[in-house]
Amino acid sequence: MKTRVLTGITTTGTPHLGNYVGAIRPAVAASRRDDVESYYFLADYHALIKCDDPARIARSRLEIAATWLACGLDPERVYFYRQSDIPEIPELTWLLTCVTGKGLMNRAHAYKASVDQNVAAGEDPDAGVTMGLYSYPILMAADILIFNAHQVPVGRDQIQHIEMARDIGARFNHLFGAGREYFVLPEVVIEESVATLPGLDGRKMSKSYDNTIPLFDGGAKRLKETIARIVTDSRLPGEPKDADASHLLTLYRAFADAADAETFRADLVAGLGWGDAKQRLFERIERDVAPMRARYEELIARPDDIEDVLQQGAKKARAIATPLLAGLREAVGLRRLG
Ligand code: TYM
Repeated sequence: MKTRVLTGITTTGTPHLGNYVGAIRPAVAASRRDDVESYYFLADYHALIKCDDPARIARSRLEIAATWLACGLDPERVYFYRQSDIPEIPELTWLLTCVTGKGLMNRAHAYKASVDQNVAAGEDPDAGVTMGLYSYPILMAADILIFNAHQVPVGRDQIQHIEMARDIGARFNHLFGAGREYFVLPEVVIEESVATLPGLDGRKMSKSYDNTIPLFDGGAKRLKETIARIVTDSRLPGEPKDADASHLLTLYRAFADAADAETFRADLVAGLGWGDAKQRLFERIERDVAPMRARYEELIARPDDIEDVLQQGAKKARAIATPLLAGLREAVGLRRLG
């Protein structure tokens, strides 16, 4: 049997280097293997939780779809779809919501971070927390369990969500399985070398920290300008740098082979100036990104074609999701009367 690999990206912003190295690049590589069946999707229901700007969500869906294709995804070979085109996902979300303990959701990092922030600001702990944010991990569990994914390649920030999907799937199996396993329990897959790509300020590269380096947006010029804004210490050219503490090196490593990265590291220790180091980082990333960017520009100019690809993908994916959900409805007692 093939290994089913599944991952998604929330459609709230422009794809950045963290999305590329943490999710898209490993996912596209996996999709080329003959022993793998891949499910890659645009998490546009998730986007509604974090963003109330419809134009931004619409634009982001187009950009993220074009990015997957530009990065080499072959939609004939994989299941490539939008979450919101698969009505079985919200239906499964409800079935899972009914077996998920509130206590489990209380422990979700994203929810806890909002509460902590509110408490620190002296506000009501749940101020601004919607039920969408609170039960976000259940929707994510439905994304994964509806296709019985074996492996979910993600960045480190998503580990807890995959663990919760396992807990929720196991709970459902236990309650309704009667000796039958309805759900495969998914494994998280982390590419260790790039598990958390740092952003401009050294914290995790993230839309919410506003510290991202865009993958394609703004072209080579913007890539170069953004890399120039990476925060470094005040050591001057000629002074040895603390290479291992520098997120410039972490970023470089995410794009270079081991020998190339080691040369870069040695040059930093020998006193390479930050300006020159940034230029080398830009050139290294640009070498990989330039051909993909050219494809992206062509694709994004043809949104109708992308729409067709996604509709085809949804049809293919629903052919799997519909019978699975029918079995689950039966399991919980939502059956024909006669
Ligand atoms: P999202 O949209 O925040 O991020 C998409 C993917 O990119 C990875 N990523 C990173 N990897 C390394 N370094 C970084 N700085 C970095 N920033 C982002 C994320 O870990 C993720 O793999 N909830 C998910 C989307 C989702 C999903 C799913 C993923 C919805 N349903 C089911 C897998 C399976 C999210 O918001 O990812």
